[in-house]
Amino acid sequence: MQSALTIADLKERARRRVPKMFFEYADSGSWTESTYRANEEDFARLKLRQRVLVDMSDRSLKTELVGQSVSMPLALSPTGLTGMQHADGEILAARAAEALGIPFCLSTMSICSIETVAAATTKPFWFQLYVMRDRAFIERLIERAKAARCGALVLTLDLQILGQRHKDLRNGLSAPPKFTPRHIWQMATCPGWCLNMLRTKNRAFGNIVGHVTNVTNVSSLSAWTAEQFDTRLSWADVAWIKEKWGGKLILKGVLDPEDARKAADTGADAIIVSNHGGRQLDGARSSISALPAIVDAVGDRIEIHIDGGIRSGQDVLKAVALGAKGAWIGRPFLYGLGAGGEAGVTRALDIIRHELDISMALCGLRDIRNVNADILDRAP
Ligand SMILES: Cc1cc2nc3c(=O)[nH]c(=O)nc-3n(C[C@H](O)[C@H](O)[C@H](O)COP(=O)(O)O)c2cc1C
Repeated sequence: MQSALTIADLKERARRRVPKMFFEYADSGSWTESTYRANEEDFARLKLRQRVLVDMSDRSLKTELVGQSVSMPLALSPTGLTGMQHADGEILAARAAEALGIPFCLSTMSICSIETVAAATTKPFWFQLYVMRDRAFIERLIERAKAARCGALVLTLDLQILGQRHKDLRNGLSAPPKFTPRHIWQMATCPGWCLNMLRTKNRAFGNIVGHVTNVTNVSSLSAWTAEQFDTRLSWADVAWIKEKWGGKLILKGVLDPEDARKAADTGADAIIVSNHGGRQLDGARSSISALPAIVDAVGDRIEIHIDGGIRSGQDVLKAVALGAKGAWIGRPFLYGLGAGGEAGVTRALDIIRHELDISMALCGLRDIRNVNADILDRAP
């Protein structure tokens, strides 16, 4: 893994090692993918100020996210079907995050269940909740997350209805995969992936299968999504979830200052400025371009995090400079996972940590908690 120097290197390895349908499930946005591209492009447009002859010794990236100490301002985003990028993917990513002292957030749509990940880790992970019409199922999920001692609940606000991803439809994506000649061929070209997958029992939606009926693949998942994801979810429901949960609550998927104000009114602990990695409203602005107006609107009332398009430590630094307390990554850790399992996720996190540390020093700072917009070069 040491020869992978960038997240892009890990992405190319994952492309070779993960069956096409699952690699493309990660590497896709909705419709024209314009928002997916904008997330990365808008980070590239921001420039940093190079400073010289300042003390660069004894640097620290340590900070706190919703009151929890972390080794750097980074967290692993909840991603569905992570256990299809690599067998037991959720366990491997959670272990890598635990070892590096940053939060891992398990998706409602994970392959490994809450209980399976809890049994395989030693520190609390976080849990992401999608709200379904079946409130009894939601209450049970919340109870299961509590029983597993999850450290925070991340409530996703921006996927009550699915944005269309053409690649998934063209690939006939499902979990577990179908056994048509095309799918068998895709898997046969990835023997390492197949071997690992044969060794695990975790191959379906662990939080759902056995808890609701008839959800086995993406078609039935989209049918279930259309039927079960609650399209009437409202700000009032956030209060209900907050009360049921009773712990740290993070609202994910805020992109508009007006929504940010409503989110702050709920009394939640943090928001994640996010467009779901460009997988929902195609044509929405990038997360990093949305961040400043949201910081202006509610930065003094609620902790602000961001995700979408972060591919390097420099990107994390830019997000922190613009007022984000924490930066979350989805695809970068998925590419690491596909490239090399737990070691690949560790490599992805090491790459980002090293880039963040050195870039902060080259901007003339030693403590991530002192980073602010002064490190950005605004000159024309
Ligand atoms: C393959 C994949 C699956 C995802 N599944 C979920 C999910 O189950 N729940 C959720 O809240 N967000 C989900 N997301 C969105 C991520 O949590 C996050 O917002 C996004 O990946 C951030 O963008 P990035 O991938 O550019 O870092 C998913 C993203 C990807 C790429």
